[in-house]
Amino acid sequence: MPLLAPARPGPSPSAADPPLLDSGHGRTDRFCIGLERRRPSCSRCRADRSRAGRPLRRGGRREVVPIAAPPFEEAPFIRACRGLSVDRVPVWFMRQAGRSLPEYRAARGPGSILDAIAQPELVAELTRQPVDRYGTDAAIFFSDIVVPVAAIGFGVDVAPGTGPVVADPFRRKEDLQRLRPLDPTTDTPYVVDAVSILAAELEVPLIGFAGGPFTVASYLVEGGPSKNFAAIKALMHGEPLIWHELVERLTDLALTSLRSQLDAGASAVQVFDSWAGILTPRHYRELVLPATRRLFAELAESHPDAPTILFGVGTGELLASMATAGSNVVGIDWRVPLDEARRRVGPGIAVQGNLDPAMCLTTWEVAATETREVLERAGTAPGHVFNLGHGVLPETDPAILERVVELVHAEGRAGVEAPG
Ligand code: CP3
Repeated sequence: MPLLAPARPGPSPSAADPPLLDSGHGRTDRFCIGLERRRPSCSRCRADRSRAGRPLRRGGRREVVPIAAPPFEEAPFIRACRGLSVDRVPVWFMRQAGRSLPEYRAARGPGSILDAIAQPELVAELTRQPVDRYGTDAAIFFSDIVVPVAAIGFGVDVAPGTGPVVADPFRRKEDLQRLRPLDPTTDTPYVVDAVSILAAELEVPLIGFAGGPFTVASYLVEGGPSKNFAAIKALMHGEPLIWHELVERLTDLALTSLRSQLDAGASAVQVFDSWAGILTPRHYRELVLPATRRLFAELAESHPDAPTILFGVGTGELLASMATAGSNVVGIDWRVPLDEARRRVGPGIAVQGNLDPAMCLTTWEVAATETREVLERAGTAPGHVFNLGHGVLPETDPAILERVVELVHAEGRAGVEAPG
């Protein structure tokens, strides 16, 4: 039984369809008519494009290509997110694009990662690199969780080896004025452009992403990475009204950013509330979950067919709450075995994870044994996306990850129908 209902099927093409100069998708009020370039937000345009291999990007008319289904609807990653059967267990890695890859280090160049993120062709290349190298079943968009707040001028940079740093942290009510709404077309046009390039070229689904409200807030309030999150906890509990307004504004930023990525052609999205595991279950439920629920509810309204993933580190005690946030998938770090994680998130939710990234640092034998352990714990029921429990560590030998992908494809059983 599928865990989740499959996406609504699109209108089926008919042999009697007349040849059209426009895309003729019956959604001309919103999309397509007379456009030289097809719209990624129109699912049939996207399907035509995937069949035709390329979008109509450089002018000229195209022939209408009949299509069977929207693109990537059959991809193992999308099917596993929906809790459907798959022909192989899909796998991708958080931080698959990054310092562990020599081709990344060669292409990335010096300077802040925020400068690299603002170059669409470079972003497209960095996003594609790990897919080409590892054969992963999804690409993660190359960007960062602080891009929306940086783009509206909050004053954030990303320091190499440290992470996001804020020169003038969020401390008082007046700082709310520094968090205006995001306009993706003028504030982050490079995100829209890079996603459009990738949506046209990738052969696997593209995962867009945003930071979760607690995690982004933690950088703004702490001023950088933190060990005990004292400043943000003091704000959450000492100034509840300011916290509420802060979390709602950050949720709006994430929502606008995720919508712009989906409109430009991303197939799914992940919300990284990476540091939420520092909270007690009650504080998470009362102070973070309501905004997170709103985020997924509003996304489901505007993009009902896009699978969604919610992830955090050290969230073992929060999993039952996170499972009620409204995402299709919950990401699991390595601390909770997947069979136990499945029990905690309950039916109707797929799980993603959860190999300890450090298990890829030594020998292939260690990585293989630990990968098999994850596959074993994932069981045979559908709804497992293989991943690490957190990001790829920079010291990782790419050859090990390549072999992990092969092993998951060969031996993963969750939702894989036996041949014949
Ligand atoms: O493959 C990918 O995942 C690439 C896209 C990506 C990056 N950051 C690029 C990046 C994604 C999905 C992120 C998300 C992100 N950024 C998170 C959530 C994921 C997680 O790890 O929990 C967080 C907390 C951040 C904030 C951030 N940005 C940190 C902690 C760091 C690392 C600092 C360091 O140098 O060790 C960054 C910088 C960053 N973002 C790098 C990459 C590839 C490091 C390499 C570089 O600067 O070139």
